[in-house]
Amino acid sequence: MKRFFNVCKKALCVLSAGALFAGLLAGCGAAPADDGVLHVGLIQYMEHTSLDEIRTALEAQLEARAAEEGLTIEVDVQNAQGDPTNINSICTKFVSDGVDAIVAIATPAAAGAAGVTEDIPIVFSAVTDPVTDLQLNSLDAPGGNVTGTSDNIPVEEIFRVAGELTPDASHFGLLYCTSEPSSAGVIENAKACLDGEGKTYTEAAITNASEVQQAAQTLAEQCDAIFIPIDNTVAKAMSVVAETAIEAKIPVYVSADSMVKDGGLASAGVNYTNLGQKTADMVIEVLKGADPATMPVQTMDDVNVVVNEETAAAIGVDVSAYTE
Ligand code: TRP
Repeated sequence: MKRFFNVCKKALCVLSAGALFAGLLAGCGAAPADDGVLHVGLIQYMEHTSLDEIRTALEAQLEARAAEEGLTIEVDVQNAQGDPTNINSICTKFVSDGVDAIVAIATPAAAGAAGVTEDIPIVFSAVTDPVTDLQLNSLDAPGGNVTGTSDNIPVEEIFRVAGELTPDASHFGLLYCTSEPSSAGVIENAKACLDGEGKTYTEAAITNASEVQQAAQTLAEQCDAIFIPIDNTVAKAMSVVAETAIEAKIPVYVSADSMVKDGGLASAGVNYTNLGQKTADMVIEVLKGADPATMPVQTMDDVNVVVNEETAAAIGVDVSAYTE
């Protein structure tokens, strides 16, 4: 799907018959690279509440900033539906189209883009651990053609909230997908937190979305609470996890507000609308000529605790400390 922001008069007048004819005579019937339009390829890893929120905010901010800066930007918006083959073909096409910048939402999309070009600037959004997963030199000076925004996950704060809301929960189920790079580090931190608090855990490491329901069911039978890292595959099936946990009357602590919206009990994390906007601001800088190599990765300073009051009521947990 292609979206034009701030379509300029010049581009519009090409559509009138006389101008089209003149344009054809001049040999510029097809959109050339120097048509005054900046071409952006946007790839979203998959559809789920949080990635959709990021994309919506990012597109709106790009449109607003383009108008402000007097830029004409054409965004080719693509969704890989969680499929590695799609990621590769979408990114390869962006490169052969000669886009001016690639915007990639979530780690697998960003890694796919980074894998196909070392020249075209890539601005990523919501990559949890970009230094490890995108091989940047550092957050402050990425060093190559790749920079963007990162969603830092305050794992300790999530477990602090868990200890406050359900102090008796001592055996946690850790539910994540083995193919999600963003989950790996968060799971390590979660285990360290639980070890530090003298709590125990059972892991359910799934390999694809179809295993989410069964894994959630097993954990709900064995554990007092479930923890979910920043995992796209589990997030997509969050309502199934929430239903299962509510039935078993156990709390689910998650790593993003979207998973609370989708039925989890509580989370502490960043605001993904702000993160999408920040990403768009970086895209504008890049389109104006800034070099990703020296543009620091932006992280989010504000962390908010969010709770789902309906879920809390359904499982009998008092969340009034966070709602009043
Ligand atoms: N941080 C994730 C990644 O690096 C993407 C993400 C953003 C996400 N918001 C989320 C994952 C909410 C799960 C739930 O891929």
